[in-house]
Amino acid sequence: MSAEISESIRFLYESEIGLGAWSWGDRMVWNYGKGYTDADIEDGFKISLENHVNFVDTAEVYGNGRSERLLGQFLKRTKTPVIVATKFFPMPWRWTKATVVRALRHSLERLGLEGVDLYQIHFPSPLVPIENYAEGLASVHKLGLARAVGVSNYDKNQMQRAYTVLAKYDIPLASNQVEFHLLNRSAEKSGLLARCQELGIRLIAYSPLAMGLLTGKYSSENPPPGVRSGKYGSILKDLQPLIRLMTDIGKDNGSKTTSQVALNWCICKGTLPIPGAKTVRQAEMNAGAVGWRLSEEQVRALDVASDRFTK
Ligand SMILES: NC(=O)c1ccc[n+]([C@@H]2O[C@H](COP(=O)([O-])OP(=O)(O)OC[C@H]3O[C@@H](n4cnc5c(N)ncnc54)[C@H](OP(=O)(O)O)[C@@H]3O)[C@@H](O)[C@H]2O)c1
Repeated sequence: MSAEISESIRFLYESEIGLGAWSWGDRMVWNYGKGYTDADIEDGFKISLENHVNFVDTAEVYGNGRSERLLGQFLKRTKTPVIVATKFFPMPWRWTKATVVRALRHSLERLGLEGVDLYQIHFPSPLVPIENYAEGLASVHKLGLARAVGVSNYDKNQMQRAYTVLAKYDIPLASNQVEFHLLNRSAEKSGLLARCQELGIRLIAYSPLAMGLLTGKYSSENPPPGVRSGKYGSILKDLQPLIRLMTDIGKDNGSKTTSQVALNWCICKGTLPIPGAKTVRQAEMNAGAVGWRLSEEQVRALDVASDRFTK
């Protein structure tokens, strides 16, 4: 059963897809500075807006603040309204609700904004009770620094605890951002997605292209560069049957690409995918994942073909 969506967070349901900004400034995973420039990123951002993709997800730790700074610069140069989501990182010295408020004020300086649309706790901390940061989210909401508040990488129990704290103040927990794609369906299999839908919490699907694997361009012979091959290396050898099915399904939907099929599958599951893009071409292609729907039969076929990847 789906909950009625609170009016104040309805804007999160108006986006079918977003734009992830992790690679904007990140050298460790995404090799920022090699192969793509700030101009490429801005062009991708602009083309996304032209295609009505105006939900952008960043975080204070992406590129050590550079992602937020770049977004701040781009925002100054566009007149199109942008929905800005950023995140608080649970550094080990951050224990209290006041640290959440302070961290957001720093993010706002980098973004050049008075407030954000969505402020999320990036990860639950193993050291700090869930309730402390949830109180921090309530504070930033009450101060008008965040229009809505959410969490990320929270399991069902952690999410429920944050939800309960916020409910005391009549503040909805707007979202839970977790890894979700055809190669990682844990959110679906664990019941987290269903619980989000019961509580009216938007599940934001991160790495919806499995960090590029579901675009079909990588294989055992041509693995993705850097740390990505470590994360997904063992999957590459089993990936091709799924990619072939996605290619066929794409063709049956009027020449859609495997990336578009991967993202549309996330949308069909009721989630908000936020693919990262480094170039105009990628941003444009990802925007083409909306405005059409896979059939129920195609979703079922993808479920069957991807089942083995998530225990
Ligand atoms: N909350 C969290 O803990 C968390 C964790 C991870 C991500 N996220 C969020 O989720 C967003 C997206 O996740 P992600 O960046 O990890 O992975 P992703 O969206 O699954 O993959 C993005 C990468 O795939 C490649 N790509 C994207 N579109 C393409 C296309 N149309 N054709 C060909 N290649 C394409 C690009 O890399 P190459 O060109 O180099 O292959 C791009 O950087 C992040 O930016 C971030 O906002 C959040």
